[in-house]
Amino acid sequence: MSQSFFEKLFRRKPIATESENFGLKRCLGFWDLTLLGIGAIIGTGIFVLTGLAAATTAGPAVVLSFVVAGIACTFAAFAYAELSSSVGGSGSAYGYSYAAFGELVGWIIGWILILEYGVATAAVANGWSGYFNNALAAIGLALPSFLTQGPKFDDDWNWIGGVINLPAFLIIMTLMGLLIVGVRQSAKLNTAMVFVKLLTIVVFLSVAIFHINPDNWSPFTPFGWFSPVEGGKPVGILAGASVVFFAYVGFDAVSTATEEAKNPQRDIPLGIMASLFFCTLIYILVSGVLTGIVPYTELNVSSPVAHGLQLIGFNFASALVATGVIAGLTTVMLVLYYALTRILTAMSRDGLVSGLFGEVNSKTQTPVKNTIICGLVMATMAGLVPLDALAELVSIGTLSAFVLVCIGVIVLRFTHPNLPRPFKMPAGILMSALGVISCLGLIYTLPPHTHERFFYWVAVGLVIYFVYGFHHSRLNKK
Ligand code: ALA
Repeated sequence: MSQSFFEKLFRRKPIATESENFGLKRCLGFWDLTLLGIGAIIGTGIFVLTGLAAATTAGPAVVLSFVVAGIACTFAAFAYAELSSSVGGSGSAYGYSYAAFGELVGWIIGWILILEYGVATAAVANGWSGYFNNALAAIGLALPSFLTQGPKFDDDWNWIGGVINLPAFLIIMTLMGLLIVGVRQSAKLNTAMVFVKLLTIVVFLSVAIFHINPDNWSPFTPFGWFSPVEGGKPVGILAGASVVFFAYVGFDAVSTATEEAKNPQRDIPLGIMASLFFCTLIYILVSGVLTGIVPYTELNVSSPVAHGLQLIGFNFASALVATGVIAGLTTVMLVLYYALTRILTAMSRDGLVSGLFGEVNSKTQTPVKNTIICGLVMATMAGLVPLDALAELVSIGTLSAFVLVCIGVIVLRFTHPNLPRPFKMPAGILMSALGVISCLGLIYTLPPHTHERFFYWVAVGLVIYFVYGFHHSRLNKK
């Protein structure tokens, strides 16, 4: 009997209590997964956006912005943990929302994850470029400014920006090459990079902590909790939270490793929670210390952590930190880029996007076409669009995915009360509801133009679904 239009929209992949595995080796344990999370999480958010948020949105109270964003993420992380342990599917919110809530919701989450990972990679490339330019300048090879920023116009359409952010463009093209020839994010390489990143943070904290001047924390909340600014971006601690929320993006990437986890039902939830907890702690420390060593008004630069050390006279430590950040941001991009191609491969297997994205090159054993298309789009975006605009778009996308995941937990508690839940969120319905409220609250504090852009993104996604995915879905053939 053929399905009706509405039945098709909500057709579901069978819920798999064991996660699917397409021949990948199950080799990742709890520590590998936690380090994978930390590898994807700590990056531009803490090393770049902290400065921007402190200087323009929250002042020294940016540390509270990190706490607020961390709380919203904790609810979402619990929800991710419960779904990843109970619903299975081949990793990521896309996989299990498709299985749990049907095709339309699955598609929307998948489409939002494309935004999250794709735009985040471009945004991190922008942050990377800031530190890289500083390093070049330090050795006397500074690039001209028209090659370090994309075009920008003032209200009267006068050209005030540059031409292209060349380093941001080129780093993505380089990563594209690496991913094509089959450089896999092995747990070992990732561990080494996480180590460099953590060492960088240790260097920063151990130098800076002895140069805190408490006067810099006063006034602590120059922008208050929240005030909308007519025709501009809202300011205050809550608005800062939605800016620095970007720093937490990536803990959900742990869930894309389900197929390679040794004991996914136990280790994925634990890996998600552990990496989030650790990073929250680091963020509070770094943002507190950074705003303690220099006045927050000095921090609106592209490499604030290195800049802060320079201002207090530690040029060598500053160069060391800048080098560590360059290495650290490279892993964030690799993991997010990799996660993007993986989501697209999964969606392609399900017939929701073109088979092109699922094709694996027999020689390199990587999805070459997928990797090239994603690379070209992201590199162009990174070259032309400034960091803050990209980061806000990522934040709204990720927050929306979190809202849907939290709602997912509530729905499943009612529709599948007896589903085995190896990891059960304590006070699940209440915590999920708080997750929905706190993520919606952060979405509200984002600038109106970001809401608009996100609305267009989802609208385009729905058009693509009805023109393509709805008709080509593999579930049609069953
Ligand atoms: N959380 C990642 C970063 O801050 C995306 O770079």
